[in-house]
Amino acid sequence: MRKILLLSFVVLFTLAANAKDKLVYIEKFDKSSVGDVFKVYDIDGNELTDASAVVEADPASPLSLCLHVKTGSKAAFVEFQNPGNISGSAVIKTYERIYMQFYVPESNTAALNSNVVVILGVSNKTVDAASGVNEAGKWIPTTQVLGKASSIRKTVRVGLNVKGGDYYVKLIRYLTTDYGYDYNDPTQTARYYADQLGLNFGVCVSPGQLNDNSRMGQTIWRNFNMMVGENAMKMDATEPSQNGFNFSQGDAILSFAEKHDMKVRGHTLCWHSQIPSWIGDSNSGSNPKGWSKKQLLDILKNHIYGVVQHYAGKIVEWDVVNECLADGQNGNGYVLRTNSIWYSVIGEEFLDSAFVWARRAADEAGDHDVKLYLNDYSVDAWSGGKTKALYNLAVRLKNSGVPIDGVGMQTHTQINNYNLSGVKESLEKFKAAGLNCIFTEIDIEGSNPITTTQLKTTQGEKYAGIADFVCSYDISPTMVVWGISDGNSWLSNAATTKPLLFTADMEAKPAYLAVVNKFKEYAEKAGVEPVYSEDDPWGDSVVDVYNITGQKIASGVTIDFIDNLPEGLYIVGGRKLYVR
Ligand code: XIL
Repeated sequence: MRKILLLSFVVLFTLAANAKDKLVYIEKFDKSSVGDVFKVYDIDGNELTDASAVVEADPASPLSLCLHVKTGSKAAFVEFQNPGNISGSAVIKTYERIYMQFYVPESNTAALNSNVVVILGVSNKTVDAASGVNEAGKWIPTTQVLGKASSIRKTVRVGLNVKGGDYYVKLIRYLTTDYGYDYNDPTQTARYYADQLGLNFGVCVSPGQLNDNSRMGQTIWRNFNMMVGENAMKMDATEPSQNGFNFSQGDAILSFAEKHDMKVRGHTLCWHSQIPSWIGDSNSGSNPKGWSKKQLLDILKNHIYGVVQHYAGKIVEWDVVNECLADGQNGNGYVLRTNSIWYSVIGEEFLDSAFVWARRAADEAGDHDVKLYLNDYSVDAWSGGKTKALYNLAVRLKNSGVPIDGVGMQTHTQINNYNLSGVKESLEKFKAAGLNCIFTEIDIEGSNPITTTQLKTTQGEKYAGIADFVCSYDISPTMVVWGISDGNSWLSNAATTKPLLFTADMEAKPAYLAVVNKFKEYAEKAGVEPVYSEDDPWGDSVVDVYNITGQKIASGVTIDFIDNLPEGLYIVGGRKLYVR
């Protein structure tokens, strides 16, 4: 008999992560340090002789002390000895920041809004810089997030990037936050809750990342329950020569998925980009091989049949068509992208055909469950013309009887631009049209560089907002991020805009914990009470069974029926229970 698990959620939920700040003073001044002189350096690390830094009375409060920096012909940075705790290597579990306060006297307003600079060690120049000291005659606090250094640095230099005049600095301290996330503890992961809620929480991967013994591989399967090939199932990978299929990359992803009980989504069957050269040029509407419409339709059909049938029963969602819409739409009707060989040679019907063939190929191979999606980018808030175009096109396809299950919002976006209420409006529209709407390639960039507030708070708010959607909309079962860590993103500024859920060192970011907490909140709402014994849950009684979203799955069934349900949360005879 399969196990019907009685969960005491109350116990499990107390293990949630809590963030704790720790601080270490790099330098605080006491009476005995009055008159102490600190060495000063220029930005290139040359010691300066026409500048100085001396411990003096605080200009705003004569009873306390600070460091008085007098600059000469160059900006001057004061050197402190590293108290030993600063690695600058973004160690697992922590965020490292330098906090300090600056005072710019009224006589040196030129220093206002200059960059605050932190130099870790001698070679790792500007670790982080941002203007923040915007008022004279007042102590202004600043916090700089440390970038990655490859080794422990013995010194730290700080200052304002301005020459001439003087300024003051005090309370130079090093902050580290322990988010208390232990990736070895499954109950702290988003996957743990996503599994319970029956949601797909995914990440794009390359086969080379799927090593069970690496931190990367572990991060993937412990935290996510779905994968998608970042490039592995694109046409240039799967059909490198005509009718010469190569499934090795996708198969590697599937075998890792099977081993770790993960789902796989397919990306993508028909796209204007990453097409094999035997067909033509990517991102181009030209037709260098001179294919006729009929020939190209045959090529598309053969491709879709080949790939879909190879993976039949193993893939839960396919992005059948990717990025077919033109940019800059006004939302009246829809305009298709012209730099696509599929569109330029075949015309709009390539869309209808691709979906029909994907459905038939799957059905003929016995897979009636795979969901078929139309995927695109910049289709988030309903106010966007391209969002409306996606809607108009998806509805057109559905109304023509084309087997489309829904749309994928890629969600390559920025913290400052992503409008959650606008996305909710879009979800409502798709829901009303009977179409699924899922999140397929999420990355949410901060400013360049990302600010502390974005890293600690607002990035998590956006990610958690999406998590909230997938928890609350039946039409939205999938949330996939486009890359494992800020070190594995396709985005060129990722090192500084930090768009993903883990740091380059695979440390869980606040945004990840925000997702965990959101999933947890919903799992708790669906809380399971231990109300019966495993031996005789309800004797011979017959019950009605609902899934977690409240849809009735069966009426008047006995325990044997429940025994064969897939893993997940159900409401059985009015009681919530978790089957695994
Ligand atoms: C990107 C991959 O991340 C890169 O590795 C590759 O070089 C180019 O494609 N929209 C999509 C994805 O649908 O397939 C793209 O993936 C990112 C944008």
